[in-house]
Amino acid sequence: SAEPKVVCVTGAAGQIAYSLLFNIARGDIYGPNQRVILHLLDIAPMMEALQGVVMELQDCSLPLLAGVEATSDPKVAFNNADAAILVGAMPRKEGMERKDLLRANAKIFKEQGDALNTVAKPSVKILVVGNPANTNALITLLHATSLPKENFSALTRLDHNRAIAQVALRVGVSVEKVRNVIIWGNHSSTQYPDVNHGEVEVGGQRKKIKDVIADEAWLHGDFIKTVQSRGGAIIKARKLSSAMSAAKAIVDHMHDWIQGTPEGEFVSMGVHSTGVYGIPAGLIYSFPVTCKNGTYTIVEGLPIDVFSRTKMTETADELVSEREDANQILSA
Ligand code: NAI
Repeated sequence: SAEPKVVCVTGAAGQIAYSLLFNIARGDIYGPNQRVILHLLDIAPMMEALQGVVMELQDCSLPLLAGVEATSDPKVAFNNADAAILVGAMPRKEGMERKDLLRANAKIFKEQGDALNTVAKPSVKILVVGNPANTNALITLLHATSLPKENFSALTRLDHNRAIAQVALRVGVSVEKVRNVIIWGNHSSTQYPDVNHGEVEVGGQRKKIKDVIADEAWLHGDFIKTVQSRGGAIIKARKLSSAMSAAKAIVDHMHDWIQGTPEGEFVSMGVHSTGVYGIPAGLIYSFPVTCKNGTYTIVEGLPIDVFSRTKMTETADELVSEREDANQILSA
């Protein structure tokens, strides 16, 4: 059979990884015929906890898992990687300003970008999850200068899945009847969940979400707010940030990127902006994409109304300002 794929997960002793590693090891990303080797990266103080995760992975007794390596050295972790899922990040602590958070993370993602550049496969697919995910992805990209920009992405699939779930709940159908919602922009409270191009199947017929729900006040109001603030609502209830749903979204993102999206469907990915839809080039911005043969393509030419344009610009502006802060920090 084919060589095992090397999948590196950072923040591997953390709570998202705890929900994620099992799914990767049983084949949810690469499929049931492809063995995987897991490379687990965390910081030195977490090595004992990480050994516990390694023991549990062994005990899962998964036939597709061809090996596990745990390390605190990014160069070891990213060595020969086919996929790198960057979950580990400095968490925001009480009283921490956004700029402090960016500063701590700029250092981490600069180092990891350098390491990816040096030791990963040239085709490595990189997904940044650790927040601020879009700007962390941008920092990684800027430091992995020999890798194509199309190798980098940031996770907005959780937001995308949240939007689908809210529409399905409202219409009273199961989630697979809903498709082609879009998350535009930043994985933050400025993100714009957009259903203008989305469809829902009711009574065997595919219809526009807008026509089925026909409640603009809800679509422009509570719907958007619920999706934007869902992360906060989960922290408030669970006293921990979303992990199970984040892990599911990571698997969805990597699976679709590698295996392709179904005909006629698009999903949301934070990817390098080429300037389409008037979004400043060079940002990592969430767009609707289709995937085929391991590459994504931004869905172009969707008509954008005035409401959407305002929202898309707002979240782009936030990313521009995060990029300015990051540049300032990195050049200091
Ligand atoms: P966690 O705190 O449970 O785990 C994070 C792990 O990363 C810890 O084990 C920590 O030691 C490790 N870590 C810290 N710095 C590292 C470094 N330089 N290299 C390797 N590992 C490092 O956090 P959790 O809940 O797993 O979340 C991880 C990140 O994902 C957070 O930044 C969170 O905000 C973000 N997140 C992003 C979402 C998205 O949709 N983009 C959704 C949910 C969470």
